[in-house]
Amino acid sequence: MIAGNRTINYLRISITDRCNFRCRYCIPSTPFSVIEHEKIARYEEILRIARIACNLGITKIRITGGEPFVRKDIFSFLEQLCAIESLKDISITTNGSLLNREKIEKLISLGIKRLNFSLDTLDPVKFEQITGRDRFQQVWDAIFTSHELGISPVKINAVILRGINDDEIEAITALTLKYPFHIRFIEYMPMGDSAVEKQQQVLTQEIKTLIESRFGELKPVKKGSNDGPAKKFQIRGAKGIVGFITPISSHFCAECNRLRLTSRGTLRPCLLNNYEKDIINPLRNGASDDELKEIILAALTKKPSFHGLSDPSTKGIPISHMTSIGG
Ligand code: 5AD
Ligand code: SF4
Repeated sequence: MIAGNRTINYLRISITDRCNFRCRYCIPSTPFSVIEHEKIARYEEILRIARIACNLGITKIRITGGEPFVRKDIFSFLEQLCAIESLKDISITTNGSLLNREKIEKLISLGIKRLNFSLDTLDPVKFEQITGRDRFQQVWDAIFTSHELGISPVKINAVILRGINDDEIEAITALTLKYPFHIRFIEYMPMGDSAVEKQQQVLTQEIKTLIESRFGELKPVKKGSNDGPAKKFQIRGAKGIVGFITPISSHFCAECNRLRLTSRGTLRPCLLNNYEKDIINPLRNGASDDELKEIILAALTKKPSFHGLSDPSTKGIPISHMTSIGG
């Protein structure tokens, strides 16, 4: 699928807006409601859209939430998803808290080789301050069990916030000396009404400078052809990779190869733009595969060429919060 001069081969599917965590940079600070059950796309509906998208050239799918593993029967859904032949790569973004050895083994047996965890701190007390949950150990164990069982790469997303975990940048980076993890520092995106101030945002340049002053020069690592937006580096002697995802300091829209399907069954061409195209209602009203294909193609024509988040005059675009879009 083509949007402008970009080839779109990557679909992110959010299967739920619900999450067992309350990360302060993600969850709104004011009361919010979850999406009613009937409005959430059913697995068979998601699978139908996924199959059509794969016929259109999607080869990579990432499952996100909220937290994907809070949704019932996710394993039978994943099994059917993994059965789509043209799909080369299925990965999952998770907070890791609900994954144990048995579940990770099951994922591997389905053919899922890559997992992205969210972990912003190595300190259990701070972990609870950030996520609202006392679950550090479960997440830590899930990360190491995944590594041990052969998940590769194990990616770890960290959002650095001033005054909260900016003192842990070096310690988090140092994990790459011992383990082949991909640590990815993601710039905080002010979305909706989260409890985090824009002033707490720590941009990539600052993180990079700090890492280099401690570990020496960061050596650029060449990107693979199917890589996402992370700019990848290695510190000297490292087994793993340090990546930076820079939605604020330098937007990567020109390289963005993805389309999103939200848990409400809408297609969202850009995370940072509120345009969404309904696909679930046409599907429920009997649309044919060809008609659904046209809807997907029409959504792509709305893929913006850039977003406005880095504009200093914006206080943060009042966009839907992350759990409802799927990050
Ligand atoms: N800014 C940046 N990253 C965020 N995430 C969630 N909310 C935000 C935000 N406002 C990240 C989490 C998770 C990924 C899915 O999205 O760290 O790893
Ligand atoms: Fe849940 Fe991930 Fe949002 Fe944290 S960042 S609240 S784990 S969806």
